[in-house]
Amino acid sequence: MYPLNRNRRLRSKESLRNLIRESSLHPNDFIAPLFVTEGSKIKEEISSMPNYYRLSLDNLKKEIKTLWSIGVQAVLIFVKVSDEFKDNIGTEAVNRNGLMQRAIKEIKNCVPEITIISDIALDPYSIYGHDGIVKNNRILNDETNDVLCEMALSHAEAGVDIVAPSDMMDGRVLSIRKALEKNNFDNTAIMSYGAKYASSFYGPFRNALESNPGFGDKKTYQMDFANRKEAIIEIGADIEEGADIIMIKPGIAYLDIVYEIKNSFNIPLAVYQVSGEYAMVKAASKMGYLDHNKIMMEQLISIKRAGANMIASYFAKDAIKLIS
Ligand code: PBG
Repeated sequence: MYPLNRNRRLRSKESLRNLIRESSLHPNDFIAPLFVTEGSKIKEEISSMPNYYRLSLDNLKKEIKTLWSIGVQAVLIFVKVSDEFKDNIGTEAVNRNGLMQRAIKEIKNCVPEITIISDIALDPYSIYGHDGIVKNNRILNDETNDVLCEMALSHAEAGVDIVAPSDMMDGRVLSIRKALEKNNFDNTAIMSYGAKYASSFYGPFRNALESNPGFGDKKTYQMDFANRKEAIIEIGADIEEGADIIMIKPGIAYLDIVYEIKNSFNIPLAVYQVSGEYAMVKAASKMGYLDHNKIMMEQLISIKRAGANMIASYFAKDAIKLIS
């Protein structure tokens, strides 16, 4: 009761504020997403994601070394697939010599200590830009799961540490877990996008991979952003099916989900601060409306405060430079 309690007392100087701070960021918190493309010496800026690039394998290796040297513990790999390799059944996705599989091997050779996480979904490989096999304008569930299992196995063979299914098919975590166990990849972990919402925040990413859905949208598999309780059902299922880490995305607009899940389950929780969130900060700071670094740190700390154990963020490098 005032004046016995004056809440401002502990805010009076910086060192005191530092002492009582509840959340902070550490390089260990970050997962750096990376976009890989065919060719050599390529570093193409993504038009919708300023200062973020598609890298050919040679430049990818350089980037991995840099990330590891500043303390990044994990990278999340996406590939941009040329149109000629796209079809409706993920042929290229399961190619043992595909770009993803080669990228995993290269990273493993160059910095074996870093944790490699690979995206599992068909959209970059799909002529329709959908995460699953399409038939009569519908996205097939179980047929897609079969391909996702093959895809996960090919990544595991290449040496990936964690596979990250981002497709939102039902039952895919169990199918992948069983396939990995059966083939002696019992140590390959699954980071499942447990609650992935059908979000317009993914726009810039789809531009990066040229993977926009050719028809319709992703609402028959990704979650309705009006729902919170449904996230508990989704994530509960993934944990039962054998997920080791749960990912929630997008980030900032979905921190109520993060908080809810943190309190409902005891499992490591990752939050993906997605491409649209990155693009908004870039655009607003370019216009001079917002301070880039301050907004970046405020958003990242807010994600930690809500309960994230780790954050996949395009700001990983910038943020680590600021905190260290
Ligand atoms: C593909 C996938 C997407 C993202 C991660 N994996 C796009 C989508 O679902 O359409 C989005 C990431 C981002 O926006 O940064 N399954």
